[in-house]
Amino acid sequence: MPQLHPDLARVLISPEQIDQRVSELAKTISSDYKKEDKLYIIGILKGAFIFLADLTRKLEIPHTVDFMALSSYGKTTTTGAVRILMDLREPIEGMHVLIVEDIVDTGNTLSYLHRILKGRKPASVKTCVLLHKLRDSLDVPLEYVGFEIPDVWVVGYGLDFADRHRTLPFIGELKRE
Ligand code: PRP
Repeated sequence: MPQLHPDLARVLISPEQIDQRVSELAKTISSDYKKEDKLYIIGILKGAFIFLADLTRKLEIPHTVDFMALSSYGKTTTTGAVRILMDLREPIEGMHVLIVEDIVDTGNTLSYLHRILKGRKPASVKTCVLLHKLRDSLDVPLEYVGFEIPDVWVVGYGLDFADRHRTLPFIGELKRE
């Protein structure tokens, strides 16, 4: 087994566990949307790019993939202001929308996104998130959750720390220091 990077305390979720859970999520989503013409999937950059690529390749229903990039300020404050850096390419009015996120931490990003997207009058908006940190309660529903995790810093499978460790094949816990 390759040695763990010195920044990391441990492997929290293995590649095999991720693969199995992503397959399960894809199966559930495919079944839930089988009656719809098409699902409009919105991946949130950068963190969701690996999860989105794996999830969408396992879906068994027609779908379109688009991306948004958001930046959040003041993660440690209660303001949690969010800004759109890159928007969708087309209107989503009347579409069944599925937001795909790597992680919901404070919930600020998702709460903002929900508000913005609902204002564009889609037929429905649901969220699929790989990791959900067990902390404050959220004001938006999470319909599909990969793993509930403790309140620790995580990297890998799309998630970064200062843009490092994004392409690790597993979810790792960072050392506190
Ligand atoms: C991360 C993650 C979510 C958001 C979740 O993005 O991808 O979008 O934080 O945090 P919240 O629930 O506290 O709002 P980040 O701003 O780190 O950007 P990145 O995805 O480009 O790394």
